[in-house]
Amino acid sequence: MEIKHIKTPIAGLNLYLNKVVSDERGSYCDMAPGGTDNELYADGIKHIHASIATKKFVPRGGHYHFKLKENFFTLSGTALWYFYDFNKDSPTFGQGFAIILGHDKLGIDVGVPECAIYKNFAAQVSISPGIYHVFWPLTDAETVVAGTGSHDFEVEDYDRTKVEDVPGAIEAFEEVKSKIIENEEKLNVVITQDENKLVQTESKLVKKIKAIIPAAKNNQQRPFSHTINKHLIPLGGRPMIFYSIENLVNSGIDQIGIIISEKDSLLKQVVGDGSRWGIEIEYIVQKEMTGLGSAIMTARDYINNEPFILYLGDNIINYNIADLVNRYFEEKLNALLLLAKVDCPQRFGVPEIRDGKIVSVEERPMHPKSEFAVTGVYIYDENAFKAMDSIEISDRGQYEISDIHNYYINSNLKLDYQEIDKWWKDRGKPEDLLEGNKFVLQNCVFKKRQEFMEGEIVGNAKVEGNVKIGKGTRIIGKTLIRGPVSIGEGCLIKDSYVGPYTSIGNVSELNGTEIEHSLVMDNVNIYTKEKIVNSVIGRNASIVSGEDNLPRGKKVIIGENSVVGW
Ligand code: G1P
Repeated sequence: MEIKHIKTPIAGLNLYLNKVVSDERGSYCDMAPGGTDNELYADGIKHIHASIATKKFVPRGGHYHFKLKENFFTLSGTALWYFYDFNKDSPTFGQGFAIILGHDKLGIDVGVPECAIYKNFAAQVSISPGIYHVFWPLTDAETVVAGTGSHDFEVEDYDRTKVEDVPGAIEAFEEVKSKIIENEEKLNVVITQDENKLVQTESKLVKKIKAIIPAAKNNQQRPFSHTINKHLIPLGGRPMIFYSIENLVNSGIDQIGIIISEKDSLLKQVVGDGSRWGIEIEYIVQKEMTGLGSAIMTARDYINNEPFILYLGDNIINYNIADLVNRYFEEKLNALLLLAKVDCPQRFGVPEIRDGKIVSVEERPMHPKSEFAVTGVYIYDENAFKAMDSIEISDRGQYEISDIHNYYINSNLKLDYQEIDKWWKDRGKPEDLLEGNKFVLQNCVFKKRQEFMEGEIVGNAKVEGNVKIGKGTRIIGKTLIRGPVSIGEGCLIKDSYVGPYTSIGNVSELNGTEIEHSLVMDNVNIYTKEKIVNSVIGRNASIVSGEDNLPRGKKVIIGENSVVGW
């Protein structure tokens, strides 16, 4: 299992990011790959302990050892750690180091590096003798730290210098604490907005880079895209395109060009100028709807011959873009593509891979040459624009992105790939929206492991698991909500059951109903005893019981391209 090493400024103090693998049941992390053969445990393991800190801002630890070597894992919570080198023989004797380790990225600048642990990584701190360690929980969540030690517990192996006497410790803590208190209000807002931290590693962008997101209107997601740009269709209570934007923002990208169709003022209005994320968003209008190739050409002036990221607005991925960008620059590549294994490659651009190199890419092949799809995230240099001079429009009337990739390959430019394991992409079918909704409820919305309860739960109504409830929403009567579920603002949910993987938009009303694994958009009324499953219900729709009306029977008013199953 992969471990990533992060050096610290103190000799004998090391951070490691252990790979965590996750599926819908949860996560698995190997904390000692190779067991006691692992060099981190070379001195043996004589005790294993857990330290559970429940009091925000109250320090735990606060000592160093003379001979014990320790390894710590933060299993939950978020804490400020402070280390100080008391080892007189160490080249870094007398140096201190502060870092925040945990599950919640604070989202405000507290002046201390943060190593946030998300589903894909768990940070391990390895401490040599002589290094003082102390941690303060920074949130109300329990901070659970598991530790291993190379020797049995011995009272005389501890130096318990008071934290007040450790140079820099209290200063570091007070600074962080005051910033947290100062920003308490903002902190909550940021954490709520910050839900899309799919993977957050320690990576920082080595070089600034712009991104473009093609989000022109198309009719690919019928019937919903008849009335709304599909990039604004809500998944987990937020417009689909927010997940692409936020993954870029979380990776340090602060200039994004969004490519829109003429007269798409709604997308501009919903997404805004980027200030809510502290970035700059510019809009670029695409006039000719001839595929991704022409979308790229529209952004030529914006990109100005620099390398850039192309991130399709209907893709949601679980991969830190900073890692990708850094690799692109470090290996001096001309193009870098993200690939994912899929069940049905026929629907995508499919690479043929020989000896670890992509030798061609075919767009939607009948007979795919690999089990991979080219996903919707790419980094290119200016050759992407040059490619457009030599490629031709395809049979489906598009300048295909796959032809741009073949141009790189055929021109002997350095094109490489990175495989990712979690990816959702809209393929234009309503079922995709259900999958996408499930994907974000599983991977993005509840990243913070906290409930977002801005609404009101009255009387006997019950809420279980991860549930997000927006402002002004009332959950009343004999209602049971079993997460993961997201409910928007201003809703009324009465005497109903809302089961896992359901998202309900704003100002909707459910009365006496049961619903599960469904996506309900804004302003929807549902009053029926029939159980609703695997359903997508568009804006302003109503489902009402026909039971009391004569003649009895199901009465429907269904728009074009709809599907009804009963
Ligand atoms: C486009 C590309 C295809 C790629 C896919 C990924 O397809 O043409 O090569 O695999 O994006 O999202 P489309 O946007 O037409 O689905």
